[in-house]
Amino acid sequence: APIQPPDLTQCQKAALPPGAKSVNCCLPEPTKVIDFQFDSSLPMRVRKAAHLVDAAYIKKYNQAYELLRNLPDNDPRKFSQQASVHCAFCDSAFLQPNTNDFLEIHNSWLFFPWHRWYLYFHERILAKMLNDDTFALPFWNWDNQSVASPLPNVLPAVFIENPSLLDKLRDPLHQPPTLVDLSYSGQDEGLDPTSQRAANNNLMYQQVVSGAKTPSLFFGQAYRAGDANAPGPGTVENAPHGTVHVWTGDSSQPNYEDMGALYSAASDPIFFAHHANVDRLWTVWKSLGGRRKDITDPDWLNAEFVFYDENASLVKVKVGDALSIDKLSYTYQNVGNPWIAVNS
Ligand code: C2O
Repeated sequence: APIQPPDLTQCQKAALPPGAKSVNCCLPEPTKVIDFQFDSSLPMRVRKAAHLVDAAYIKKYNQAYELLRNLPDNDPRKFSQQASVHCAFCDSAFLQPNTNDFLEIHNSWLFFPWHRWYLYFHERILAKMLNDDTFALPFWNWDNQSVASPLPNVLPAVFIENPSLLDKLRDPLHQPPTLVDLSYSGQDEGLDPTSQRAANNNLMYQQVVSGAKTPSLFFGQAYRAGDANAPGPGTVENAPHGTVHVWTGDSSQPNYEDMGALYSAASDPIFFAHHANVDRLWTVWKSLGGRRKDITDPDWLNAEFVFYDENASLVKVKVGDALSIDKLSYTYQNVGNPWIAVNS
């Protein structure tokens, strides 16, 4: 049977990793839950590459987070509450019925669709703050190894130069012009830029093209009601997704906080741009053909989650409704994906 959404009134405090400061990621309790409906009145929103956004966009983007940070503490849209959503669903808050395990949407086939929904609602909340339905998140284009300025594969300047988009817990050694290492394992390899670009292109090819020829390789292992959590990640969840998290977080913190640990990752606004690129890779993967198609198992399609929306109402969503970004009225700026052809 499919995974069911948690009862937000049954939140517990689970153990966090060693050295983590004690955080409570329980979410505000809802008064009612509404079913998701597609909103055909929404304009098509374009998520642009973070290294290419213009000054007018940056001003709004920073302003949206400033407003989000300043909402009252108990507002589920407040930035700290938005960060708690990630913590709550990462093995830290809700027991899955008939197991001894907390619900964990990582390390399984729920990874891609859960994060798509999370970004969808987060983006709608930012749009509401700005009163601008055309607002879209940017994506951090770390897979793009172009040498043209501004560089796509460094920590984007927008997250450094704007106070509401900045996070203090990032690795000081990984500031621009240091190139992202898509195979990062917690230690710097010290590759020269040409070798780093080649390694990044190879990693992308391997994780999205040659190593992900089937849905289960790409999405990860099945996770159904009553199953032990974290049955196994798909290729991309592991790397570049996980590696970029750890690369971004502060290596002097016990768990590479903020970005390097699940409980703290979404406290850094760059989380949402990182995940927008992961989400974009889902659409790229589906365009490659062969057996690269969405899972058809009803236990995946009917798995359900809950999120607070832009009106602070709790909404229940299904994996099956997340498969088309077209239906969700957003798209990605076309930046090309040269690594697709890297070994041909
Ligand atoms: Cu929910 Cu990037 O992890």
